[in-house]
Amino acid sequence: MEQYSGSDHILQKRQRYFYPCTSHFYRTPPQIVKGEMQYLYDHDNRRYTDFFAGVSVVACGHCNPEIVRRTEEQLRTLQHTCTVYLTQPNVDLAQRMAEVLPGELKRTFFVNSGSEANEGALLLARLHTGKKGFIALEQGLHGRTYLTMSVTGLRMWRTDPQLEADRDVTFIPRPYERGMNAEEAAQRSLAALKKVLEEKSGDIAAMIAEPIQGNAGIIVPAAGYFAEVKALLERHGVLFIADEIQTGFGRTGEMFAIDHYGVQPDIVTMAKALGNGVPVAAFATTDEIAASFNRPSASTFGGNPVSAVTAMAVLDYIESHQLVQRSKQLGDVLQQGLRVLAARFPEAITEVRGAGLMIGVELFGEDTPRGAALVDDVLELMKDKGYIIGKNGVDRNVLAFQPPLVITEEDIVGMLAALEKTLSSLT
Ligand SMILES: Cc1ncc(COP(=O)(O)O)c(C=O)c1O
Repeated sequence: MEQYSGSDHILQKRQRYFYPCTSHFYRTPPQIVKGEMQYLYDHDNRRYTDFFAGVSVVACGHCNPEIVRRTEEQLRTLQHTCTVYLTQPNVDLAQRMAEVLPGELKRTFFVNSGSEANEGALLLARLHTGKKGFIALEQGLHGRTYLTMSVTGLRMWRTDPQLEADRDVTFIPRPYERGMNAEEAAQRSLAALKKVLEEKSGDIAAMIAEPIQGNAGIIVPAAGYFAEVKALLERHGVLFIADEIQTGFGRTGEMFAIDHYGVQPDIVTMAKALGNGVPVAAFATTDEIAASFNRPSASTFGGNPVSAVTAMAVLDYIESHQLVQRSKQLGDVLQQGLRVLAARFPEAITEVRGAGLMIGVELFGEDTPRGAALVDDVLELMKDKGYIIGKNGVDRNVLAFQPPLVITEEDIVGMLAALEKTLSSLT
């Protein structure tokens, strides 16, 4: 089998052997063959600076040698057992997680993907409270399994048509609305939450929310929002699950995005950056809540030695290279630069928002088809100039900047200059 068959061959094979639900970025997509920290290379050896990190995964950089060395070593020593046998890496990782997680979250259950982590968290909430229902934010994204898709508000990811019949989930408005200030939008969301809790908290096990919505366009709620959410939920005996799958491990300039709000969730879910590309995910909680999860359960691959050692190497790397602080500092530089561009292109750029190195740039506001078309054009031209940018948003009209946290200021300055040229040529 050829290793580098080129983009056309890959597209043909995808068309033949993948499901039709699988899509790709770009009209002329490159074949990516190699990654080195913040850079990707295609089969013609063209270099791209990556500003999307494989959808917020590769925070420590592609094929980071310090991490890969430890993964390789473990791969050659002991690749798999399962939690029914005793091994060192998963208990050491669990201990390490307890050190970085907010407050009293000391117990961790390891799984393999974000969907699985959220599914486990929702199950845990049901087991602990003895209640069945959930509250979720409109436009949130939580996964592809039945329960996680049920709490997913984003229409494009609610693939199962039968979900419409699910009565266990109540959606409330997210703390954001175009044209509304953040405080007003937060109050609208809180009022809806209060009403739901007053009407049916006896049936509700938990509320799940991304502290900063990712796929829905990088939405940062007002400063006091989650403290008020937590206080309301506590008053009604409802748990709070923070979905940190996209925001965790330094992405937003804090270890976890919920740290910006000074709130300790009852359950935190994690995936993506934890393995820097190796599948590993987890849900964590307090001693008290974990005590309710006492019927047998195990994930075959969850916390296997290779992913556990990799995740530990990731946490070590984040700490020793101060990536959380770096995300904040460079995030400020990037956001500042994007705001300068917003002032230069006020018609096209209608909003710049985000925290740390998780920044969204909305194009053409309410004219979403025009915004989405421009996003695609910008992605294409930026790729041709050697920059990989992401996109998201309810209407896919938001440019997403979520680079590896090892990106440099020089990379950012170069990207901003290319973006300015691109926007000049397209608007
Ligand atoms: C916030 C959030 N939760 C859950 C998921 C689902 O994770 P996975 O694709 O690993 O199942 C995603 C994926 O993008 C996500 O962004």
